[in-house]
Amino acid sequence: MQLDILVKGGVLPDGRRADVAIRDGRIAEIAPSIDAPAQETFDAAGCLVSAPFVDPHFHMDATLSWGNPRINASGTLLEGIALWGELKARLTPEAVAERALSYCDWAVSQGLLAIRSHVDVCDDRLVGVEALLAVKETVRSYLDLQLVAFPQDGFYRDPRARANLLRALDLGVDVVGGIPHFERTMEEGRASVTELCEIADARGLPVDLHCDETDDPLSRHIEQLIFETTRLGLEGRVSGSHLTSMHSMDNYYVSKLLPLMAEAGVAAIPNPLVNIVLQGRHDTYPKRRGLTRVPEMRAHGIRVGWGQDCVLDPWYSLGKADMLDVAFMGLHVAQMTSPAEMRACFAMVTEENAAILGLEGYGLERGAIASLVVLDAGDPIEAIRLRAERRFVISKGRVVARKARVASRLSLPGRPAEVDLRLAPGG
Ligand code: FE2
Repeated sequence: MQLDILVKGGVLPDGRRADVAIRDGRIAEIAPSIDAPAQETFDAAGCLVSAPFVDPHFHMDATLSWGNPRINASGTLLEGIALWGELKARLTPEAVAERALSYCDWAVSQGLLAIRSHVDVCDDRLVGVEALLAVKETVRSYLDLQLVAFPQDGFYRDPRARANLLRALDLGVDVVGGIPHFERTMEEGRASVTELCEIADARGLPVDLHCDETDDPLSRHIEQLIFETTRLGLEGRVSGSHLTSMHSMDNYYVSKLLPLMAEAGVAAIPNPLVNIVLQGRHDTYPKRRGLTRVPEMRAHGIRVGWGQDCVLDPWYSLGKADMLDVAFMGLHVAQMTSPAEMRACFAMVTEENAAILGLEGYGLERGAIASLVVLDAGDPIEAIRLRAERRFVISKGRVVARKARVASRLSLPGRPAEVDLRLAPGG
């Protein structure tokens, strides 16, 4: 059997050592030892071989715009939205596409090969929609881009949002978005959840709302999202992004909410880098941290995936398309420090996110789409600890990025000449 690519000697996330054989864009075989001729063979000895990273929550229309036209001085969510409004009026499809494609290059280099991006539809020109639909086609052969029609200025609060959201869906945007906590009243927020879920039901689309991204413990739109999911039979295709108000909610109320959320199959997408930066800004001390109740959700059987949300945009001034940064921050803020929980954090930026996006053919198994990343780490915990280098990235059967291992040279009396930060076996 002539292979296209053979990855030798890697360690899978579950600890098994395996060779991975790739042919015609698929994983032809995965076994402890494969010896077959291949056009290209990679030595992954002692390196973690994982299915690619997946980001379930991003804003690709805003990325890499940091400082344009000015920086967010207060650091708040609301100033970020106002700042984005200033920038939005000046956008061109060419400029949005150029920034987005640059970001996709970063993503590929980091082994991030599937992204769900919200795209603002509160713009009569639909500049972001036009640009990102084109980008989606451009990158299709190596990166899966899923788009969410996102009414940033409010589905009802912006009088044109409803019509523009429907136009965006007509143009081929994949998922219905919303922002109920930003509507003028709780009642309008509640009504927006109902109508958005009805739109998704009528069109057979998934739902992913920015839901309760606030420190207000009385922001309870997740309750309505759960109710509509069950009423309309949308189980398994609805996500609540952020859910930061749950950090501050009454504990008794949450004890009722989480079983209902599990029952409805509503997934949660917290975004730890951005939640920790934006929430609690109105507090003195103690300052709330705003991250939703991740370990408690997981204990109830709710699917939870870590999202990135922002890189270098009006809301967040850092980032590099690295889902290991996201997992690292999530692990700390959620205090998920047991070995099992740290491994779960790795799964939450890979397979859990793939399940939330409904990616077909994802995973390291025979017959799956041949996409994987080889990391300079011995296991998932070490990958998070080191935010490990991506040695090779393979997408849909093609090598799309590679990076040589570089060790630091030491000049110390009586000490080794090189330092290795790895501990896990095989380094
Ligand atoms: Fe977001």
